[in-house]
Amino acid sequence: MNQVNRTQKTFALTTPLYYVNDLPHIGSAYTTMAADVEARFQRLLGRRVLLITGTDEHGQKIQRTAESKGRSPQSFSDEMSAGFVSLWQLLNIQYDRFIRTTAPRHEVLVKEFFQRVWEAGDIYQGQQKGWYCVSCEEFKEERELLEGHRCPLHPNKEVEWRDEQNYFFRLSKYQEKLQKLYHSQPDFIQPDSRRNEVLNFVNQGLQDFSISRVNVDWGFPVPVDPNHTLYVWFDALLGYITALLEPDEEPTLENALAKWWPINLHLIGKDILRFHAVYWPAMLMSAGLSLPERVFGHGFLTKDGQKMGKSLGNTLDPIGLVKRYGSDAVRYYFLKEIEFGKDGDFNESRFINVVNADLANDLGNLLNRTLNMVKKYCANNVPTTTNENIPIEHPLKAIGLRLGEQVKHAYEALAFNHACEAILLLVQASNKFIDEQAPWSLYKQGQIQAVEQVLYAVLESVRLAAYLLSPIIPDTSSDIYQQLGYGINFNQQIETATAAPFAIHSTWGVLTNQQKLGEARPVFKRIEPAKNN
Ligand code: MSP
Repeated sequence: MNQVNRTQKTFALTTPLYYVNDLPHIGSAYTTMAADVEARFQRLLGRRVLLITGTDEHGQKIQRTAESKGRSPQSFSDEMSAGFVSLWQLLNIQYDRFIRTTAPRHEVLVKEFFQRVWEAGDIYQGQQKGWYCVSCEEFKEERELLEGHRCPLHPNKEVEWRDEQNYFFRLSKYQEKLQKLYHSQPDFIQPDSRRNEVLNFVNQGLQDFSISRVNVDWGFPVPVDPNHTLYVWFDALLGYITALLEPDEEPTLENALAKWWPINLHLIGKDILRFHAVYWPAMLMSAGLSLPERVFGHGFLTKDGQKMGKSLGNTLDPIGLVKRYGSDAVRYYFLKEIEFGKDGDFNESRFINVVNADLANDLGNLLNRTLNMVKKYCANNVPTTTNENIPIEHPLKAIGLRLGEQVKHAYEALAFNHACEAILLLVQASNKFIDEQAPWSLYKQGQIQAVEQVLYAVLESVRLAAYLLSPIIPDTSSDIYQQLGYGINFNQQIETATAAPFAIHSTWGVLTNQQKLGEARPVFKRIEPAKNN
């Protein structure tokens, strides 16, 4: 784990800047949900956080798509970009910056950056010959292609032969420096499988790559030669820097880098690893800038075990999903069921089962049955037992005391599934504890103190579970906290970090008898499968 992260007071992280050739798909939603969860966790720790997301709007892919729809690329980008903003709202994403690469201030910054690289002698003119995949916006090696000159990532599209004058970036010059970076900062690329992929690629020898295009108008002109358009990836990566500017700040590199640079974490999918883990650090080295701390490449999602795609007719619409099931359910499924870093699958029946089992049955029922018993047996007051009276070997307290630290490590390592599993163990242990202790019998036997101890332990465990799950299911956690009498809404991040700081609320034994419980109501309604499921 990265030592720097732990002591820092600020945390800047990014999602990729999404292409606007289409409305957002589940892949873009996936990275963004994970980024939001990590950002919320970092805010709970009391850090100042900057979550950057946005849209990547230049290049041939978008130009062509807009043309095919009889639209200007700008108005088409405006519409698509707005689609991302509204999906992020639906998914309860609390981003701090939304950068669009067509913003005029971005061009100013790109020029300044280009100038630095130009002055470093790292840009030259040459002849680019090769196979280009417009969908990837990337040249491909002949050996990478499928039969019939098709891109492995877009097998229904043929790559196009290019033979043109381009400007090149001298990537080869940075081979050794990059190798040193990967060795001195082993956490720079995660997870390990992705790191190995990059090491293999770089060890094979790096070739310079072209950073300009002719015959593409949709982009910024190359500052030293306006007959060329800047390659979309060169401009897109720099969007991460432009996003750091305050809203009304003058767009200079100095201003942009003053507060949040270097970025702590870039979250991306595995298909764009090379750009982030090889090209991007080399570009930054050339411009004399420090480097991001960590690049994490997650896996790809499939649906019912199949690759998703329009041509396959099996895309998964994130908007429909959230509208049907709510944002907490969608967030929970993708973060709990899929190991971040590995490929994962969406299947609607499994989705319904997981969400019902964990959120409606285990967590929701636990709260509900406990609050009902507290009402019945304790006049709706938090039981008077104090934490000190409960021994540390108590089955729930013993789990609860370790849980905060465990979950913190999981969130820091982006092991969201481990965080969920550990929390669920406490929830399940609590349900089992109630069944075993049977407070209803204890009550009948007049053992009021014992009843109070059981109910305190369970109520406190639900509270802890809700707190630790709040980055993932903020609405449900807020609901639980409110029923426990806290005026806390986990969607109001800054207030939460002050009113319920991680150092205190992530431990066990926080509830006191002073706490006035709120009205009990079901927190998570079971999803009833549709008839055709
Ligand atoms: N515009 C570039 C990124 C530039 S960043 C400076 C881009 N955009 S994208 O919209 O095509 O892809 C965005 C992200 O979605 C990538 O991280 C990609 O890995 C992810 N996904 C696309 N399909 C996916 C799945 N089926 N599953 C999971 N993630 C997927 O690339």
